[in-house]
Amino acid sequence: MRLYPAAPVIGRRAVADAVVDGHTIPAGADVVVAPWVTHRHPRYWEDPDRFDPERFAPGAEKDRPRYAWFPFGGGPRACIGQHFSMLESVLALAMVLGAYELEAVDRRVPVDAGITLRPKGPARCRLRPAGRG
Ligand code: HEM
Repeated sequence: MRLYPAAPVIGRRAVADAVVDGHTIPAGADVVVAPWVTHRHPRYWEDPDRFDPERFAPGAEKDRPRYAWFPFGGGPRACIGQHFSMLESVLALAMVLGAYELEAVDRRVPVDAGITLRPKGPARCRLRPAGRG
């Protein structure tokens, strides 16, 4: 959800002229904010390309700005399914990892960034029944 956010960009259309951080945004302009970019920004993430779930350990997030990580958007239009999907994905992962050990076959998986992010082709991995080495 950080390195491969399912919604890599979030779009808005400006309804009025605005100035954001010194940049003028005219009414009618399309604006994108990109979790893909912010989630890999070295200002907020040390060694940004490294997968490290400990970044989300209890207490770790207090050292980052609120919107350094925003895979579900934010504010009044934030995703209503965010808590459900985090629960569902952890449960699904726990069930798969309880049954199998997974080893990636493809070290690099090109992505296809449409409305949602997905692998461009198969993301192959080798499965072994859990606990059998
Ligand atoms: C990993 C899973 C998911 C991701 C990454 C995700 C991400 C997002 C994002 C980025 C937005 C747009 C926020 C914006 O425009 O500011 C959004 C909106 C929305 N999501 Fe999700 N979503 C996920 C799962 C779900 C699920 C499971 C549901 C329903 C059960 C759901 C329902 C919605 C709805 C209804 C909106 C529109 C909210 C509004 O405009 O008021 N999403 N989601």
